[in-house]
Amino acid sequence: MADEIDWDALTAAANEAATHAYAPYSGFSVGAAALVDDGRVVAGCNVENAAYGVALCAECGLVSQLHLTGGGRLTHFVCVNGEAELIMPCGRCRQLLHENGGPDLLLLTASGVRRMDEILPDAFGPENLR
Ligand code: THU
Repeated sequence: MADEIDWDALTAAANEAATHAYAPYSGFSVGAAALVDDGRVVAGCNVENAAYGVALCAECGLVSQLHLTGGGRLTHFVCVNGEAELIMPCGRCRQLLHENGGPDLLLLTASGVRRMDEILPDAFGPENLR
């Protein structure tokens, strides 16, 4: 299944998103892109703030675009820095991705394609609130 996906196109979308990053404080641009279960591609870039802790990760924008454009489930995800290197989502963003893609979400990483439940094992999720 993983090899039926055009990871290069998704990575290109993440790299394009990174060009829109607003990261004057860290100097670390991030772009993220994901495939949605209806075929849409959603993307996001990081947006920093003079109040450093308010920074929005690229994944925040991506998840917002997911809901803004009709919702659905994330199926495939790529995150890159401004040097076009694959990076791992931060801990908080793993939680965001888990909520919107679930344990089956596939992530392209420097160590290959990995499942969400591999990079956020034993996740707290919506089912825990039932
Ligand atoms: N960043 C992201 O956008 N996503 C991540 O998963 C890791 C970190 C951003 C936040 C901040 O603007 C910059 O990278 C440096 O931490």
